[in-house]
Amino acid sequence: MSKMLVKYLTPGVTTARPIKDENDNVLFPRGHKLTEQDIQSLVERRIVLVFVDKEDLFQLRKKAQGDKEEPAAGSLQYKTPLIDDVQLLVSEDTQKAAIEAVHSVIGDMRSGKPLDSAQSQDVVDTMVLEMMANKDAMVNLIDIKTFDDYTFSHPVNVCALSILIAIEMGCSAEEIKVFGVGALLHDVGKVEIQDEILNKRGALTDEEFLEMKKHPVFSRNMLVQDKKISEQSINIAFQHHEKFNGAGYPQGLSGEQIDKFARVAAIADVYDALTSDRIYRPKMKPYEAMKIILSGNGTHFDPEVVKVFVKHMSVYPAESIVRLSSNEIAIVIKANENTLIAPVVRLIVDKNGNKVSNKEEINLSEDSRYICEALSESDLNP
Ligand SMILES: [Fe+2]
Repeated sequence: MSKMLVKYLTPGVTTARPIKDENDNVLFPRGHKLTEQDIQSLVERRIVLVFVDKEDLFQLRKKAQGDKEEPAAGSLQYKTPLIDDVQLLVSEDTQKAAIEAVHSVIGDMRSGKPLDSAQSQDVVDTMVLEMMANKDAMVNLIDIKTFDDYTFSHPVNVCALSILIAIEMGCSAEEIKVFGVGALLHDVGKVEIQDEILNKRGALTDEEFLEMKKHPVFSRNMLVQDKKISEQSINIAFQHHEKFNGAGYPQGLSGEQIDKFARVAAIADVYDALTSDRIYRPKMKPYEAMKIILSGNGTHFDPEVVKVFVKHMSVYPAESIVRLSSNEIAIVIKANENTLIAPVVRLIVDKNGNKVSNKEEINLSEDSRYICEALSESDLNP
């Protein structure tokens, strides 16, 4: 699958994900062949980006490049003049397999069966291999959020994010696989917590919070049932709510008393929770969540892990839509590693609200304009 700007779509291309309007209503389902009329309606709604089938990409790119020269067979260079392809960090099949593995473990726990991690171990092995192969790809965190059900998608996202950080920290594949299993199963103990507490809209009472704080212990007790799960994996589940300054739970461990990978999973856990829709609040934008991670640097989170996370996650991930100080709207093309708040962008709407056809890239680290706010795609819709 690939993400493309709507203005370069051609009739006949197939959607790889449902296209939704600003109210989350599906305009076109996945697998829909877009007609000229459909594309026009997307333009009118000011929808900027859509996911399309990878096979359609060359056709789209030819249009974008004005049918210049055709590359030799087998040498397709997917270098769009508009926007880089989204390289999926984890393939869709693997994401689905991971969701199924979590679903199966949680189902077993709910029905009182013993925990069997075989399926989880297999899928984590695949995730680690895929992510190590893609490690140079620009990370677009939005793309790991394919599934809507938080109970099953959150563990998979935390696992993927944790693996990513561990790769950047230079850990070995074997080490990361052990880690990934712990990250994938870190919250299984929540099946013991009442739904009224898990899904409460308002703040938890002291009593409810005490109950909630038991879930890492429940997770540990479940994971020890399976001898295939290593002690380090269990520690991740047991310690992911510990804080670097000792103010966490269940044991109040601090600094290096907390397992290295539990310190990584803690960041992944909070970041994914903040950027996911919950019953009691809508999801935050990546840069808002990043601000919260940074505010916990050295207190909640290990500064060494925060450094790796911030460096590789980018405050404004590629393809974020942002409003500039000039009131122009731009799309982020790539991050500047040393100035995370000033990425390279391309204008898409000028200060008068007109679409921009100029494909010029602006390096904000060398420009007087700066980012005022991150927008969502729906902000662009009338
Ligand atoms: Fe948790």
